[in-house]
Amino acid sequence: MTTITLPLWYDLHVHLRQGENMNAYIQAQIDMGCAGVLAMPNTKPPVGKVLDSDPLDYWSIEYYLHQIVHAGGDAFKVAIIPLYLTKDTTVQMIENGKRSGLLRACKYYPPHGTTNADHGCPLESFMDNGVLHAMEEHGIVLCVHGEDHGLSGVDYFDATTNAEKSFYLKVMPKLREKFPNLKIVCEHITTKEAVDFVHISGKNIVASVTPQHLLFTVGHLVQGLKYHLYCLPLVKFEADRDALRQAVIDPYNTKFFAGTDSAPHTTKATECGCAAGCFTGGIAPQLYATAFEKTNLNLDDRLSQEIFERFLCLNGAHFYGLPIPDKTFDLVREESVVNVLNTKAESIVPLPLGLNMTTLPWTLNV
Ligand code: DOR
Ligand code: ZN
Repeated sequence: MTTITLPLWYDLHVHLRQGENMNAYIQAQIDMGCAGVLAMPNTKPPVGKVLDSDPLDYWSIEYYLHQIVHAGGDAFKVAIIPLYLTKDTTVQMIENGKRSGLLRACKYYPPHGTTNADHGCPLESFMDNGVLHAMEEHGIVLCVHGEDHGLSGVDYFDATTNAEKSFYLKVMPKLREKFPNLKIVCEHITTKEAVDFVHISGKNIVASVTPQHLLFTVGHLVQGLKYHLYCLPLVKFEADRDALRQAVIDPYNTKFFAGTDSAPHTTKATECGCAAGCFTGGIAPQLYATAFEKTNLNLDDRLSQEIFERFLCLNGAHFYGLPIPDKTFDLVREESVVNVLNTKAESIVPLPLGLNMTTLPWTLNV
C-alpha cells in the first residue's frame, strides 16, 4: 500500500469565518495536516484595519488573530491574515502595518463579486491612491480575487469569455506593468488565461489552486445542479482544467501551490440563489492527490510524489517565507469515508458528499 510521508503544510487560502463554528473549522484544518493557514478577511465585519487602536469601524488583524488563537488556532505555527482592501485603506495603514509586523498581505475583492465582498473597491482605485505602491515598497503580498466585477450575461460567463478570463487579459497586465516588483498571488485560478499570465510573469507572481478547480468542470456543476460545487470563481471548461492540471504536475513547477479556498456555509441554497463556496476542510490533501492522478501522474512513483509535495507543501511556503515543518503526516492509498462536519449548531456538507461521493481513495494519518 502506497504511503506518502509529507511535511505538515500551509493552507494558503481558507475561510475560518467568525463565531462559535470557528473551533470546528480550525480543527478540520489541523486534522488534515495544516501547520498554518492564510485566513481570509471576508468575515462579518470584515478585517479592514491592522491595529485595534485604529478608530475605523472594522475588525483588525490584531483582533481576528486573537479570535483564531482563542478558537484553537494556537496549534498553528503560522496564521497570516490579509488586510481586506476597502475604500478606507491608506498608505499609512500599510506603512504602520508593516512596522507592526502584523501586516504581510492584503486581499483584493471585486466589489460585490463574491461572499462578503461588499466592501471591495475596483483594483484601479488602489493603483491610483498609493496603496499598491506602498505594498510594493514594503514587500506586502497582494492576494487577488481575479474577476471583473459588475458584469452580466455573456460577459460574466460564456464559452468564449468570462469574468476571470477578461480580468487576466485586461486588468492584470496593467497591474504588472505599473508595479513590476509587487508580490502577487493570483488566488484560486480557474482559467487557461490565468495560468498563462502566471507562467509569463516574473517570480513575484504566483498562484494558488483549489481542489475543486482541478477536479471538476462546469458540467459537473450544472448536471443535476450540484450547488455544493458552486463557488467563485466558477468551475470552468475542460481546456481550463487541463491547463491547471498541467501547471501543477510540471516537474519544474515553483509557482503554483495549494490554497483550498475551503469556505463553509451553514446554508448553501436559498430561495433566490446559492452561497458561493465549497467546504473541503479535513479532506483537501486527499482531493488534491485524487486530482493529480487524473493526469498521467501515478503517486506510487517517487518522482510524482515529489511533484505533489512541491505543490502541497513547498512552493507556497517558499513564496511567503515560511519554514518547512519537521513534523510530518502520511497520505495512504486506502479508501476513507467522507463525513459531514458537525459544529455546535449546524452541520456542514463537504464538497464530495454534496456530489454524492461518499468515499475517497486516500486516507490521512496526521
Ligand atoms: O466561493 C467562494 N467562497 N469564493 C469566494 O471568493 C469567497 C468564498 C466564501 O467566503 O465563501
Ligand atoms: Zn476564498
